[in-house]
Amino acid sequence: MSTMPETLATLLSRHSLGGKHLGEPGPDDAALRLMALAALRAPDHGGLAPFRFKLVRGAARERMATLFETVALAAGKDEAEARIDAERALRPPVTVAVVARIDMGHPIVPAHEQWAAVGGAVANFLNAAHALGFAGKMLSGHKVRQPAIQAAFCDTGETLVGWISLGTPVREPAPGHAKAGAVEVLSDWR
Ligand SMILES: Cc1cc2nc3c(=O)[nH]c(=O)nc-3n(C[C@H](O)[C@H](O)[C@H](O)COP(=O)(O)O)c2cc1C
Repeated sequence: MSTMPETLATLLSRHSLGGKHLGEPGPDDAALRLMALAALRAPDHGGLAPFRFKLVRGAARERMATLFETVALAAGKDEAEARIDAERALRPPVTVAVVARIDMGHPIVPAHEQWAAVGGAVANFLNAAHALGFAGKMLSGHKVRQPAIQAAFCDTGETLVGWISLGTPVREPAPGHAKAGAVEVLSDWR
């Protein structure tokens, strides 16, 4: 193939950028809707849409920062460490909590296929953000396992996967971290 389609070039240039490299503006309602629509185009056996995206923006960032700080202090972190957790919540213009709803008893679609759909949705969401000129990063960490934080984002039976930080990139990507080459993941079945 002599020329690469522009859409594929966009996919191949996506990279993550963490909160300290994200500035204003964050994506607006229209952009976030496109990201959600892209997420919904991911392969999804049974069309279960086993995920929800909860937007944390505006004043909600302060509420999430207070939650992170409170939980960090309760978990034994000192005030400086807890403040770092709070600042992580405040830095990105928009944070998107990713919540999975896996139906463990589904008669046709096993849990691992539903998780695959969640992963595809996250990837499509991030790819759409990148295609629109935004950057972001999916993060989880120990916080997703804290009951008070899970309770703040999830209904019964849901799992907090983590948070996608979103904003306008304020710097170019660092010299690339190693990625597997196609040769490492592609082979003929014998
Ligand atoms: C569900 C999920 C959770 C993740 N959690 C973390 C995390 O807590 N900390 C981290 O450094 N990277 C985490 N990552 C990986 C980053 O989002 C990112 O993909 C990785 O740093 C590689 O960068 P790249 O996307 O530019 O290739 C997570 C990825 C996924 C899909």
